[in-house]
Amino acid sequence: MFRVCKVSDIKENSMNRFVIGKKEILVGKKDGKLFACENSCPHKGASLHKGVYKDNNVVCHMHSYEFDIDSGRLTNMKSWKKSDTWIEQNQAWRESGDLVMYDTEIREDGIYLKERVE
Ligand code: FES
Repeated sequence: MFRVCKVSDIKENSMNRFVIGKKEILVGKKDGKLFACENSCPHKGASLHKGVYKDNNVVCHMHSYEFDIDSGRLTNMKSWKKSDTWIEQNQAWRESGDLVMYDTEIREDGIYLKERVE
């Protein structure tokens, strides 16, 4: 168990960034649901806390990929529409994994991550 912050630090519809060891953790609350994940976008590493919510997803500010806040799954990729002159250099660049999620627990004195963050 690792205490991250006070319960009151996380407001509804917010995403907050915390540095724990060498990792950046995002703790957010949407529709009363608390969640935590790595703050690094699995696509190309942008800071996810700069993103926005859309439905049950967090939307990365960099290329608008969307990740479900319950499962961490990539649910929507930007449509990379090609113009006639576009030459694809490397399709692998578009690929993305899912969010690395952390289980949370709310206690009287704060919000805790259930796993140790290295
Ligand atoms: S870095 Fe997040 S969508 Fe590309």
